[in-house]
Amino acid sequence: MKRWTMMAGAALLVAGVGAIGVWQKNASAAAALAGPVLVESVEVARFGDTGDLRRPANIDEWVFLGASLGMGYNAQVPFDPDTPGNFQTVLMEPTAYNVFKETGTFPDGTMFALYFHGSRTNVSINTSGFVMDEELALEIHLKDKDRFPETGFNFFFFGPDDKHASAPALPNDCTNCHIKHGATDSVFTQFYPALRPYLRAGD
Ligand code: HEC
Repeated sequence: MKRWTMMAGAALLVAGVGAIGVWQKNASAAAALAGPVLVESVEVARFGDTGDLRRPANIDEWVFLGASLGMGYNAQVPFDPDTPGNFQTVLMEPTAYNVFKETGTFPDGTMFALYFHGSRTNVSINTSGFVMDEELALEIHLKDKDRFPETGFNFFFFGPDDKHASAPALPNDCTNCHIKHGATDSVFTQFYPALRPYLRAGD
């Protein structure tokens, strides 16, 4: 398979291409300056010997996509405003985010993070509404056609102190709902305002 690799940040700035451009591995600076090239994969996920995913080291620098409070998928379980449940925040790995802004597609290697935090009220000066409590869990959506040929993606579940996580067997309940209801390539872009300006027509 033809694979392109992207190098971000420092390399782009050194080459004078600017932070928005994309960079083809081994391409000359002149070719890169000619304009963006097709980026089919980004290689930023790090794995252990058994294929477990390491908790990304720079996740505090990922791009904020959207948030929900007490998000549920079951009409039998109504929302209770007194105990609204968890905050869910979704972030995207920045190298893939920059490719998405250029192309409207998620390159192989794209990662999303879904954080779960509890909700609290009457904290400090807060008398109404809810603020975020401690982290409860982190789930990562990884696009990887080689590792997961059946679906092209899978998930990794991290407890608050976990440094690495393994993926469940495919298909599973998680992938099934995402394939059926995620608006863009099994991702819930319908809930992410930060991605909307870059969606392709029809997505
Ligand atoms: C019934 C449908 C459904 C199921 C089942 C489901 N999800 Fe999701 N998932 C969603 C929705 C809706 C969102 C949008 C964000 C939110 O919930 O706030 C989402 C977002 C995500 C995201 C953020 C990136 C993206 O793909 O949009 C991750 C990561 C994620 N889910 C992981 C999981 C994991 C792991 C499981 C299984 C344990 C799972 N999901 C099961 C509906 C589902």
